[in-house]
Amino acid sequence: MSHFPAVDVTVYPYECDAYGHLNEAAFLNLFERARWEMLARGPGIDLFQRNGSWPAVRRATVEYHAPAAPGDVVRVETTLAQRGRTSFSLHQVALRTADQTVIAEADLVFVTIDRGGRPMEIPSEVLRFLEPRSSAPAVHPIRVSADGVDLAVEVRGEGDPILFVHGFPLDHTLWRHQMATLSGWRRIAPDLRGCGGSGVPDRGYSMARYAQDLLELLDHLRVKRTVVCGLSMGGYVTFELLRRAPERVRGLILSDTRAEADSAEGRRGRDEMIELARRQGAAAVAERMIPKLLSPTTLQAQPEVADHVRRMILGTPLPGLVGALEAMRERPDSTATLRAVNAPTLVLVGAEDALTPPAAARTLAAAVPGAQLTLIPGAGHLPPLEQALVTSRVISEFLQALA
Ligand code: MLT
Repeated sequence: MSHFPAVDVTVYPYECDAYGHLNEAAFLNLFERARWEMLARGPGIDLFQRNGSWPAVRRATVEYHAPAAPGDVVRVETTLAQRGRTSFSLHQVALRTADQTVIAEADLVFVTIDRGGRPMEIPSEVLRFLEPRSSAPAVHPIRVSADGVDLAVEVRGEGDPILFVHGFPLDHTLWRHQMATLSGWRRIAPDLRGCGGSGVPDRGYSMARYAQDLLELLDHLRVKRTVVCGLSMGGYVTFELLRRAPERVRGLILSDTRAEADSAEGRRGRDEMIELARRQGAAAVAERMIPKLLSPTTLQAQPEVADHVRRMILGTPLPGLVGALEAMRERPDSTATLRAVNAPTLVLVGAEDALTPPAAARTLAAAVPGAQLTLIPGAGHLPPLEQALVTSRVISEFLQALA
C-alpha cells in the first residue's frame, strides 16, 4: 500500500449550497483536485497522456462524515488500496485542518484505458508513481521477531507513540481511520503474525508470542514507552504485554475486549471454529463472524464496512486463523493484571457489541483503577470502523488529556 504526499485544498464559496456547506457533488471535485495536484507535484500532470493511457473511473464511493464551509482548508490524504494489471484503487481521506475532523472519505477504482477506450496494462512509468516511495510513510515489513517472522507494520506521523493492536481475524487496517486522522502522534499499527501482510509460521501462536513480537517491534522502532490501544484479541495481547513490560505502557485504550479467560463453552466454540476454518476455509469463518462483528445498523447502512471486514478475514491464511483461535482458547484470566494497572485507561465498547457487550466492558473498567468507560452508539464489536469519527474523537480526547 503506498501513500502519496498530502494535498491541502481550500473550499470555495461557489462549491457550497444555500446552507453554506460544501455540496456533496463538490466533494468529488475536491478529491479530484487533490489527485491532479499530486500529479502536478510529482511526475507531471501529463503522466497518463504521455504514456498513451487514461485512468477511467469505474467506481466512486464517497462517505460523508461532516460539513465543510467556504474558506476551510481541507487536507486530502491518498493511499493506494489495491493494484492489478490494468486497474488500481485509491482511498482518499479529507480532513478539516483547523480541528483535524475527517469530513469525507472516498474509494475509487480506476481502469487504465488506451485511446480506443480498451483496458490496457498500467504503463511502467505510472507503476513507478504508484509504488511506495522511500520517503513516504508507508506499510513496510520490519523484521522484528527472534524466530525470523516478518511483521508488516504501518507507521505514520510524528510525536509520542501509540501502538494499535487489531482483533481476530483482522489486520492493521481495522485502524485505518485512526491512522489517517490522529495527527500529532506517531501511529504504529502492525499486522500480528499470521495476519494481513505479516509472515505466517505454521505453529507457535500464543498471546505470549504476539506480545513478545510487539515488544521487539517497539525495540526496533526505539520506542521506550507508548500508549497501547488493543481491540478484542488485541486487548488480550495487550494484557500479556502488561504482564511482561508494564513500564513500557504509558496509557491504555481497551476496546471491545474482556479480562476473563474462555469458559468451557467458549473453548468448545474455538474448537468448532478451528474445524470450520480447516474444512471450509476463511470464507466460512467470514460468513459466521460478520453478523456478530458488526451491529445491525452497520450491516444495513454501511455495506462497505462489511466488505472491508470480509477482505480482512479472507486475507488471513489458515495457520494464522487456527493459531489465533488456539491462542485465544489458551489465554489466562487477566483480572489480576488489570487490577495492577498503573496507567491512565480508557475502556471503549460499541453499544451494540454482541461479542463483548457493554456489561463486559463495565466489568473490565471496574477492574482497572481509575478507568474511564465510553459507549459508542451505533457500533457493534468494531467501533474504529463502524463509527470511525466518534471513535477517533474519543481516542483523540483521551490522548490530549494524556499529553
Ligand atoms: C476478536 O475480535 O478479536 C475476537 O472476537 C475475540 C474473541 O473471540 O474472543
